Amino acid sequence: MTTALVTGATAGIGKTFSEQLAQRGDDLILVARDEARLGALKTTLEDSYGISVEVIPADLADRAQVQRVADRLAEASRPVDLLVNNAGFGLRKAFLRNPVEDEERMLAVLVQAPVVLSHAAAGAMRERGHGTIINVASVAGHLTSGTYAAAKSYLIAFSQGLASEVESSGVLVTVLCPGFTRTEFHERAEIKGEAIPKFMWLQADALVRDCLRDVARRKTISVPGAQYKAIVPLLRIAPRRLLRNGKIVAKHRPNK
Ligand SMILES: NC(=O)c1ccc[n+]([C@@H]2O[C@H](COP(=O)([O-])OP(=O)(O)OC[C@H]3O[C@@H](n4cnc5c(N)ncnc54)[C@H](OP(=O)(O)O)[C@@H]3O)[C@@H](O)[C@H]2O)c1
Repeated sequence: MTTALVTGATAGIGKTFSEQLAQRGDDLILVARDEARLGALKTTLEDSYGISVEVIPADLADRAQVQRVADRLAEASRPVDLLVNNAGFGLRKAFLRNPVEDEERMLAVLVQAPVVLSHAAAGAMRERGHGTIINVASVAGHLTSGTYAAAKSYLIAFSQGLASEVESSGVLVTVLCPGFTRTEFHERAEIKGEAIPKFMWLQADALVRDCLRDVARRKTISVPGAQYKAIVPLLRIAPRRLLRNGKIVAKHRPNK
């Protein structure tokens, strides 16, 4: 029996991970802020798939609340086999137009929380000789367009480093790099997605299925969608100068 902990489980990509993991029979621990949504999802998944679901309401911008989740991950008597660090959000405005407190909150959720939770999970998994961590970064992590991209860039580099550190102990770390995906993300950030061409949009269902297939193949980087599989290798080798000044960045640049 496998137990998976998913952060940001109440919507979008995290909810889809929870549904697909439940469908394959994993027990779940769901983490997010919205207690009513967590409770409703627990009931649906337990009733539909006969699995057991725990919920941990937590604001991952708050270090003390992150610690409660980390403590659960480190519990030796109730092992967690899979951690999905997925919770996240974006800021619509450019860096200097946001209160610095908003920037700090985003950094805490996108970087500090996955680092703290990966530390707790990877330590326990290494002791047991197996386990998997999926860190949800972004194609934006290959760009230089604001602090969201910088945070996702950190997560990609961090995940690749951790993957090497724990590989020999049987622990797998995969970093998922989604492109534009239909979820609540853009609406929450008040970002209008109209300028984004239709072919660039991914569906969360297919994205999560692709990622779980890549995890089964023990890949370190998962880039779902043929369009992004073509774009990402080019972004990786493109000179920084072009990424800063090129048209691709203009599309992703936060509103001024
Ligand atoms: N959608 C895209 O185009 C896209 C592209 C690339 C990468 N991503 C990444 O994919 C991940 C999931 O995003 P999504 O598109 O699924 O967005 P979403 O539909 O808005 O879902 C975000 C989830 O994160 C949770 N969350 C947000 N702030 C939180 C906090 N402070 N503490 C705990 N949970 C929090 C939300 O739950 P509560 O509100 O209940 O807390 C929700 O469950 C993010 O890391 C995002 O950066 C998204």
